[in-house]
Amino acid sequence: MKEKYPPLLQVEQVSVCYNTKRGALKAVSGASFTIGEGESVALIGESGCGKTTLATAIVNALPMAASITGGNLTYYKDGQAVNLLKLKKNQLRPLLWSEISMVFQASQSSFNPVRKIKTQFLDTVRTHDRSQSREEILNRASGLLRVVMLEPEKVLNAYPHELSGGMKQRTLIALALLLQPKLVILDEPTTALDLLTQEKILRLLKELKKQYGFSLLFITHDLGIVSELADKVVTMYAGKTVETAPVRAFFQNARHPYSIGLVDAIPRLTLDNRPVISIPGTPPDMVSEERGCAFAPRCSRCIPICQEKVPHSGAVGHMDGWYCACWNPASRGEHIGKDN
Ligand SMILES: Nc1ncnc2c1ncn2[C@@H]1O[C@H](COP(=O)(O)OP(=O)(O)OP(=O)(O)O)[C@@H](O)[C@H]1O
Ligand SMILES: [Mg+2]
Repeated sequence: MKEKYPPLLQVEQVSVCYNTKRGALKAVSGASFTIGEGESVALIGESGCGKTTLATAIVNALPMAASITGGNLTYYKDGQAVNLLKLKKNQLRPLLWSEISMVFQASQSSFNPVRKIKTQFLDTVRTHDRSQSREEILNRASGLLRVVMLEPEKVLNAYPHELSGGMKQRTLIALALLLQPKLVILDEPTTALDLLTQEKILRLLKELKKQYGFSLLFITHDLGIVSELADKVVTMYAGKTVETAPVRAFFQNARHPYSIGLVDAIPRLTLDNRPVISIPGTPPDMVSEERGCAFAPRCSRCIPICQEKVPHSGAVGHMDGWYCACWNPASRGEHIGKDN
């Protein structure tokens, strides 16, 4: 099916394992989705389902214990396909920050505590391009800091500990945009911030996207943010991408029982009497051998085949870019747990 946005990054059947004392932990198993040019994609799913691992694989920043055991990450640089997984570290480095940048989860501690913010902006550019003058870089940094509603003079001359959590997060977003990347990855950009600051960052991201037109991959547990910021939603469960849906389709007609479970777990202030339903059970142990659908033990739509065979992802619905990996997907507007 043709997608609305020309592809910028195609994640195809990517698998990542961690070497643990108990054996290989399959943190990501055959994950697939596409991020289009200018598209904003939300990656959602319970804690431990592999979101950070997958995002970190894209920027080749996995820890030593991890290995990518399969798949392709095809990035379209000026229309030319490049498999990021085939690049050596020194071939990938020039693409980071300038084409793809990532703000890591809990990254507020990723600033070097003994260096001024100014130095960290200068270092980021200089590792890519030594031709830019100090003035040029600091001018651009100041412009971006103003865009993220911070006082450039104050922030550039500060040490990280002199900034509040919200200020640090905004500074990191400015840093991520410094080399005008085409794809920005944000792992839980608003977690650990108070509600007002969360709201501010959300508004800011919307504005920045409009202004700079980059593609966005963001990870969140907050479906409110998803509804405001995403064009497309990718649901992960136990290392697998189980549904990819345009954002409206996701909220109105999600097809995978797990996606529906996540939507039904949102507390609402609406007049419909739909109860808030939590998903019973816990995710599987990702070290043990898989058999059938990983969600089957928790799924109210489980049928015999679900226990036997892993479902493959297939196109669903009438919309472009809507895929679901389920033997017994819900039909339009159906909600699990409603009749329980
Ligand atoms: N360095 C590591 N060594 C071993 N196992 C790891 C490591 N990092 C993550 N894992 C395991 O890999 C799985 C996926 O973890 P990951 O951090 O990618 O999940 P996540 O979806 O980002 O979770 P959260 O929402 O809590 O951030 C989990 O079972 C986790 O315990
Ligand atoms: Mg994470």
